[in-house]
Amino acid sequence: MDWQILFTEWADFLIRWVHVIAGVCWIGSSFYFVHLDLSLRKREGLPEGVGGEAWQVHGGGFYNMMKYTVAPSHLPRELTWFKWEAYWTFISGFTLLCWHYYAHAELYLIDKTVMDLTSTQAIAIGIGVLVLGWVIYDFLCRSKLGDNDLALGVVGFAFLVAIAFGLTKVFSGRGAFIQLGALIGTIMVANVAMNIMPNQKKTVAALIAGQPPNPAYGKTAKSRSLHNNYLTLPVIFLMVSNHYPLAFASKWNWLIATLVMVIGGLIRHFFNSEHAGKGSPWWTWVAAAACFLGIVLLSGVSRENGGASLAPAPAAVKFAQVEEIVTSRCSMCHAAEPVWDGVPVPPKGVMLDTPQRIRLHAQQIYVQSVMTRAMPPGGNVTELSDEDRKVLAAWVQGGAALQ
Ligand code: HEC
Repeated sequence: MDWQILFTEWADFLIRWVHVIAGVCWIGSSFYFVHLDLSLRKREGLPEGVGGEAWQVHGGGFYNMMKYTVAPSHLPRELTWFKWEAYWTFISGFTLLCWHYYAHAELYLIDKTVMDLTSTQAIAIGIGVLVLGWVIYDFLCRSKLGDNDLALGVVGFAFLVAIAFGLTKVFSGRGAFIQLGALIGTIMVANVAMNIMPNQKKTVAALIAGQPPNPAYGKTAKSRSLHNNYLTLPVIFLMVSNHYPLAFASKWNWLIATLVMVIGGLIRHFFNSEHAGKGSPWWTWVAAAACFLGIVLLSGVSRENGGASLAPAPAAVKFAQVEEIVTSRCSMCHAAEPVWDGVPVPPKGVMLDTPQRIRLHAQQIYVQSVMTRAMPPGGNVTELSDEDRKVLAAWVQGGAALQ
């Protein structure tokens, strides 16, 4: 038994498990609090300092929630803080980023046909984007722009689109999407760690000192938390997109990322309006569906010839040809015992080392290597030629027979 592979594979899975759980807890609580905040209603006779209340029923009991707009007159004895969900999401997420994308930059992050980077350069750019992206975003929020939510939203959106575009000109599609997702996630966590938490601590310190806390603290924390709310849906799309090469490896991938951010904003707008009792803007669903259809169509535009898809299939393709191509271009990684350095087990369990297995994966082969150029990874490391891609296309289109 190969202990090293055994342990590293399981450690990888364990960290991913933690990452998803922490993310679920974080997003769950943050959706919950945004909903709660928006559904608070004023009424006569609320205690002093309370801006509104909400009634909720859950798990067999009724809850009466009240929000002290600035703070209660003194610190309650027990106070629950919400931060570890966010921090653990970041810790586990950054570990995964290093584990996969930085430790195997040549496979996941770099595409030499996009930009010929060394691993060190790629990692430096990746980390630089995370740090600088946050610094610029934070600067925008603190600047005069920060006084106008809408203007800040528009500029912040344009900033993220520019980053998405830039990343796809530097990294592989897969790498660009994960870096964009990681940047948005980093901004969201940094909002918690560098803004929301410190502001809440200042409020608590003022209470302890018996002074009235400054309402501005709560206000900026609230606006950061609203940004997080609007960024949540796109970040999840980006994180799971690496299983879907049509999203990350097609020609207009940066535009796809942009539309995803629009969809995320539209859907949050619907729920936020509804929870705030400002009606149900159903048009947002129509607009979101139109954007999604746009994504589907954009992803079908081939990289080579602007949409004309692949050339007509050569007449009958023999399976022997396909097997020869797959064996020489794919099976070094996609086999029960891969021989490629740094690929200890067949990636995603995909084995392409027997005729039956190749046939079983016909559609995936088509999506990964014909409709997109996600495979072979690393900017075509095993140099699968366009001719060979056409042969694969013709075989799949012709019914993927074994003869
Ligand atoms: C250098 C190693 C390597 C080569 C060569 C390679 N792949 Fe992959 N393949 C990978 C890795 C790594 C992944 C996992 C990517 C991820 O983590 O999402 C993968 C994933 C896949 C998947 C599953 C995608 C998913 O998310 O479920 C398919 C299908 C696939 N490859 C097909 C191919 C085909 C077809 C070829 C040959 C044309 C090929 N691969 C060549 C390394 C390779």
